[in-house]
Amino acid sequence: MENNSRRGFMGKAFGAVAGVGAVGSLVAMKQTWDPLPSVKAAGFTNVDLTTVEANVLVVEKWRGKPIFILKKTPEMLAKQNDEQNARDIKVGEDSYLVCIGLCTHLGCIPAYASGEEKFKCACHGGEFDTSGIDILLPPPSPLPIPPFKIDGTTLVLGEEGEEYKKMKEAGVTV
Ligand code: FES
Repeated sequence: MENNSRRGFMGKAFGAVAGVGAVGSLVAMKQTWDPLPSVKAAGFTNVDLTTVEANVLVVEKWRGKPIFILKKTPEMLAKQNDEQNARDIKVGEDSYLVCIGLCTHLGCIPAYASGEEKFKCACHGGEFDTSGIDILLPPPSPLPIPPFKIDGTTLVLGEEGEEYKKMKEAGVTV
């Protein structure tokens, strides 16, 4: 139990300001991730994965964010480790990276260097591999995987399908 008698006016005032700040942050997060009910139906983005070529980055927009879609080549898949494999989205024989294309350092949009097979962030030199895993500082974590569902060969962004739920349970994405 909190001992209110020991808290002076300044303590209460600080608590009130911190509380307002926390609520403000939550509201901001909700506005970012959860569109208003009137646009919710438009909060999904469908992508036909059969049109995606291997090692050619496709950038879709979903809820105002860039979404990277990269079809892996057989050579990429042959040298992947378990951590990389766990982030792949499999559709038939094909494997894809699908992630939010905002650098986990300070939010710049990394560019894909197809010749080097890595994402490079021009802001502070951070790099990510073809699975979106951070391989060169300063980014502190991999590019997050957005909620998705696979419907045949269609990627539905914004809906939590079974594959996404499994990744979330396994801690592959947040
Ligand atoms: S924002 Fe990408 S490395 Fe800093």
